[in-house]
Amino acid sequence: MVFSYSSITKKVIMALAGLFLIMFLFVHLTVNLLVLINDGGETFNKAAHFMVTNPLIQFMQIFLFGGILLHIITGLILQIQNWMARPQRYKVEAYSEKSPFSKFMIHTGAIILAVLIYHLYNFFFQAKFGHIDAVTYNGLEYEDMGKLVLEKFSHLSHVLIYVGWLLFLGFHLDHAFHSGLQSLGLNHNKYTPAIFTLSRIIAIVLTVGFILIPLVIYFYR
Ligand code: HEM
Repeated sequence: MVFSYSSITKKVIMALAGLFLIMFLFVHLTVNLLVLINDGGETFNKAAHFMVTNPLIQFMQIFLFGGILLHIITGLILQIQNWMARPQRYKVEAYSEKSPFSKFMIHTGAIILAVLIYHLYNFFFQAKFGHIDAVTYNGLEYEDMGKLVLEKFSHLSHVLIYVGWLLFLGFHLDHAFHSGLQSLGLNHNKYTPAIFTLSRIIAIVLTVGFILIPLVIYFYR
């Protein structure tokens, strides 16, 4: 059981799952940016169709949801152990080298999870268990996922929820990548500044990339 592993093991599990989730986010962003192509959703729908029908990608989804669960469970346990070890919340560690968001990983993580459930309900569960209109390209039928995305982001309330969510994701990611490498022992003092910069670049690219989707759809479609 993950509960009985040492803190180091839990940190390694959490880091591996977290780094895998960052990889997923890059793939997810790339596919979703296709919805911005002004071709009636054809490119995006074909890419989304490939993602839900390709057996290898469907197999990887087990690791994706497993990774999300492991990341949450290990993160929660480590945080609880941390609180119990320091009841006065006394911090001796210097934060000078850390992301300003490093102290709030559990808080940003909880917000990301809450809205992720809402996000899965909006898209993933609709695709799996709900109804998505069909569209035909060259005689082949596809789910019109693009239409659903455009419809969702035509509402300001929805756009605001997503922009807020994605900003919290960005704050979380700012500390995530270099912290993950550190847990895996892949850091070296010589490379620390470069890894911090890379971590921030990853956070900015993913956040700005995802935020562009609701904003461009709301203002230009
Ligand atoms: C504006 C940004 C986003 C859009 C437009 C978007 C769109 C979608 C769509 C259309 C699906 C359903 C795919 C299908 O089953 O056919 C989906 C699934 C999913 N999304 Fe997002 N997504 C966005 C951001 C995110 C973010 C930031 C996360 C993680 C924090 C995320 C996590 C997931 C997960 C875990 C699934 C289920 C697995 C999958 O189908 O790939 N999404 N998203």
